[in-house]
Amino acid sequence: MTKAIRITETGAPEVMEYVEVDLPAPGAGEVLVRQMACGLNFIDVYFRTGLYPQPLPGALGMEGAGVIEAVGANVTHVKVGDRVAYAGRPLGAYAEARVMPADILVKLPDSISFETAAAMMLQGLTVQYLFRRTFRLQGGETILFHAAAGGVGLIACQWARALGVTMIGTVGSDEKAELAKANGCVHTINYNKENFVERVKEITGGKGVPVVYDSIGKDTFIGSLDCLSPLGMMVSFGSASGPVPPFGLNELATRGSLFVTRPSLFNYTAKRDDLETMAAELFGMVESGKIKIDINQRYALKDVAQAHRDLESRKTTGSSILIP
Ligand SMILES: NC(=O)c1ccc[n+]([C@@H]2O[C@H](COP(=O)([O-])OP(=O)(O)OC[C@H]3O[C@@H](n4cnc5c(N)ncnc54)[C@H](OP(=O)(O)O)[C@@H]3O)[C@@H](O)[C@H]2O)c1
Repeated sequence: MTKAIRITETGAPEVMEYVEVDLPAPGAGEVLVRQMACGLNFIDVYFRTGLYPQPLPGALGMEGAGVIEAVGANVTHVKVGDRVAYAGRPLGAYAEARVMPADILVKLPDSISFETAAAMMLQGLTVQYLFRRTFRLQGGETILFHAAAGGVGLIACQWARALGVTMIGTVGSDEKAELAKANGCVHTINYNKENFVERVKEITGGKGVPVVYDSIGKDTFIGSLDCLSPLGMMVSFGSASGPVPPFGLNELATRGSLFVTRPSLFNYTAKRDDLETMAAELFGMVESGKIKIDINQRYALKDVAQAHRDLESRKTTGSSILIP
């Protein structure tokens, strides 16, 4: 048996229960991981509320780091005693220990702690694909990135600085603006006080930006389109304020033949080779000191409801982890 979080219905943070669950021996292709830290991500909120459906009763959490305690048949790339980390399906990372498919695990370099790994796998791999694959930044661009002081946001600030990209970041408070700036964001806009479209036009001398990375969704989507220069790319990768309402394709034509994509990390990591390349690049950025993972909130796993409340009420900055 082990302790884990389970839900029998979707809803408010209180639906998450800290319970004893079975811990079977790993089957073919599976391993048993003793988790030292679990990641907290906004996608966990979407699964808890039911915005992203899953069969119930269900588990939650998509990110963790720990040590392999047992290995099933046909597992070749990891062995008992390896330090590993992951971000992806199946749900169930909110647990002291879990049996899971081995194919989403990557080995952790000794220089990267379990806590750092649990804080960065999902958010860091996301910035990797957003900046290196979805819209490949070359250096020299000016970009707009929403929620710049969040978990994904603070990693994006530092990665943009490392690439020589001028990042304009939106934030919900003056304190968050300071934090984003300290991490490499060149211009900040407090979208609770300022009109971000006007400010982006001002900063870019009326030209707009070639790409917007928008994880806010409903509240910012149309404004983000207005920030793009012709042929610009709208990367809508999350919906912290709610899903983007349906819109007419002509909105893209009238603003200058824009492109829109709605990417998900798990499509980008689906091939093992891609996962390994992406993880190696992320680990390299952290080992070189170009990116430091700010773990600004730590919670005991059993206090996960409070962690969700803080994340949803915009109280957190940087990354958060849960300690089993
Ligand atoms: N598609 C993908 O592959 C992928 C992967 C990872 C994450 N994501 C998305 O990226 C976003 C950031 O994820 P994260 O885990 O790093 O979270 P986070 O940025 O640490 O937290 C979300 C932030 O969004 C901002 N926000 C704006 N409106 C909000 C609202 N109505 N309710 C709550 N927050 C609001 C808040 O910052 P301010 O106070 O500064 O506004 C808040 O701190 C999420 O939308 C997530 O779903 C997508």
